[in-house]
Amino acid sequence: KKTLQDLDVNGKKVFCRVDFNVPMKNGEVTDDTRIRAALPTIEHLLEKGAVVILASHLGRPKGEVIEELRLDPVAERLSDLLGKEVVKTDTVYGKEVNEALSQVSNGDVVLIENVRFDPGEEKNDPSLIQAFADMADLYINDAFGTAHRAHASTTGVAEKLPAATGFLMEKEIEVLGKALENPDRPFTAIIGGAKVKDKINVIDHLLDKVDNLIIGGGLAYTFVKAQGYEIGKSLLEEDKIELAKDFMQKAQDKGVRFVMPEDVVVADDFSEEANTKIVDIEEIPADWEALDIGPATREKYNQIVKDSKLVIWNGPMGVFEYNAFAGGTRAVAESLAGTEGYTVIGGGDSAAAVEKLGFADDMDHVSTGGGASLEFMEGKVLPGVKALDDK
Ligand code: 3PG
Repeated sequence: KKTLQDLDVNGKKVFCRVDFNVPMKNGEVTDDTRIRAALPTIEHLLEKGAVVILASHLGRPKGEVIEELRLDPVAERLSDLLGKEVVKTDTVYGKEVNEALSQVSNGDVVLIENVRFDPGEEKNDPSLIQAFADMADLYINDAFGTAHRAHASTTGVAEKLPAATGFLMEKEIEVLGKALENPDRPFTAIIGGAKVKDKINVIDHLLDKVDNLIIGGGLAYTFVKAQGYEIGKSLLEEDKIELAKDFMQKAQDKGVRFVMPEDVVVADDFSEEANTKIVDIEEIPADWEALDIGPATREKYNQIVKDSKLVIWNGPMGVFEYNAFAGGTRAVAESLAGTEGYTVIGGGDSAAAVEKLGFADDMDHVSTGGGASLEFMEGKVLPGVKALDDK
């Protein structure tokens, strides 16, 4: 696979797919992590004298123009971060884009409109692929967050132009790839989040790789139930109890330490104002629900993290959106921030949590992928990565 360093980009028009699918509120970007993460690639291209044509999706407009999903606020933020003008077009391709491209010079940046406004994007449609290819001489894919989608701007156009990975894509694949293929040991994975259903493949795959598998979050209670304890009104996926047992058996067979909560914060209501108390895992009252891991569990997880050379974390430990149940997630974030081992945040909610709690800079790697990092950790080949591998 070629990387950005291998291409001579001077004087070339470079179509660069980025993932600027960022959270927004009232027309403003509320978290620009993904935009900042793409800067090394963009700045490199600009320094080397390319015309940079940036393409991204935002949200899921499903092939229609949705005013709130235009990329203008993203262009504005990018322009602030780069300290230079970003030419933003209101269309994805065609006359307006061609005109903009005829007026720019080397070292300029053009951001085309949300590519998912065009129905051809998600269909990987040949005519849209051709329109992208006609704009540029080279293709760079730096959109790791979208690498699990086989769309016109992520895979289709890669086949039409000389192509390479951007620096962000390269780093994500390197860090996550090394963790799974050649991990420093002890290797610990911490898997949280609400549902077992969403983490089945990742737990299954990680059980082949790790020394310790720690679980937390809503999904933990199906495992607690599978161990034979009563869990009150805590989240339960009845149909996943057998699977939970299988996973615990697999861990045992493989010599993986499967680590579960020992105590929890229970609440008499799913709300910020609920009454709460800390109870041992075998003593969850019938009318209460567990919404966070308790202090003894936090300390136990902390010790395991401290003794690990590599830790991957995906999924919050409790309902961290509510302050009353954010303690477990904060404690794990603190453990990772303070440990000497290499720490990887596997995207999505856990990345948002460490960002919100102010620990993002203390981690060795915070993945910009949500679904993409999850699929990567499931051992799947991501189409956006494969398209470049095939070149
Ligand atoms: C993400 O935020 O996970 C990516 O940008 C992909 O978005 P999607 O799930 O709408 O394809």
